[in-house]
Amino acid sequence: MLCFVYLLLSGLMIFLQFPELYWGKVGFQGYDAVFKLSDWGLSWEEADALGNRRWGRNYHYLFAWVFVINGLIYLGWNLWQKRFYSKMLPRREELSVKYLKADMKNHLRFRAPTGTAARQYGVLQKISYLLVLFVLFPFMIVSGFAQMPAFTAISPELIDLFGGRQSARTLHVICTVLLLLFVVVHLIEVLVAGAVNQVRSMITGRYVVLTESAEGD
Ligand code: HEM
Repeated sequence: MLCFVYLLLSGLMIFLQFPELYWGKVGFQGYDAVFKLSDWGLSWEEADALGNRRWGRNYHYLFAWVFVINGLIYLGWNLWQKRFYSKMLPRREELSVKYLKADMKNHLRFRAPTGTAARQYGVLQKISYLLVLFVLFPFMIVSGFAQMPAFTAISPELIDLFGGRQSARTLHVICTVLLLLFVVVHLIEVLVAGAVNQVRSMITGRYVVLTESAEGD
């Protein structure tokens, strides 16, 4: 989480000093942009004054390596323990429309699972974790590498795959927004499921399972 916060903040500091996004190989002030912060009320000069590219780059590159190394250890450990298979892979019956609808309804009504269901991930939770771990995170890393001049020198094919550095950058930022959305929804879910219980279980392993009657009290 600390790593994510630093990557987000440092990324924001870099972005603010170049607050427009482009598609393809080329992009500069005055060029056709796919996103302009000035359209949202903050001019280029105002954004530039808020950002700090030097600080941002120092921390972004540092925490990018922490992120990659940490991710590889997490992946290796969980593959070794078969946790992705046992905890995150949805069972066949969970993927039925009826099951998915019921889970979605519970989420929209902010109803947390009780009893044994509270000990397992819900199907939407499993799908979102798998998407974040196996789609968004790897995409962040690949689109990050595609923006590094040193890496482009070693492997120009990667940047060609994105159709140019500007496209890689735009996709990196879109992915950032998706990850931010995931974190916000995730934090809401933790609050709904009982923040103290959830956080304590992460730190000490002690998790109090709510029963239907306890929930209604
Ligand atoms: C969850 C993790 C990450 C988030 C939220 C994130 C976010 C961002 C944001 C918002 C920017 C600013 C885009 C711009 O204006 O140019 C950025 C830039 C960048 N990111 Fe990330 N990033 C993450 C992970 C990574 C990783 C893992 C790498 C490397 C493998 C990476 C490499 C880069 C590079 C090279 C830039 C351009 C920096 C520059 O212009 O000097 N990022 N990132």
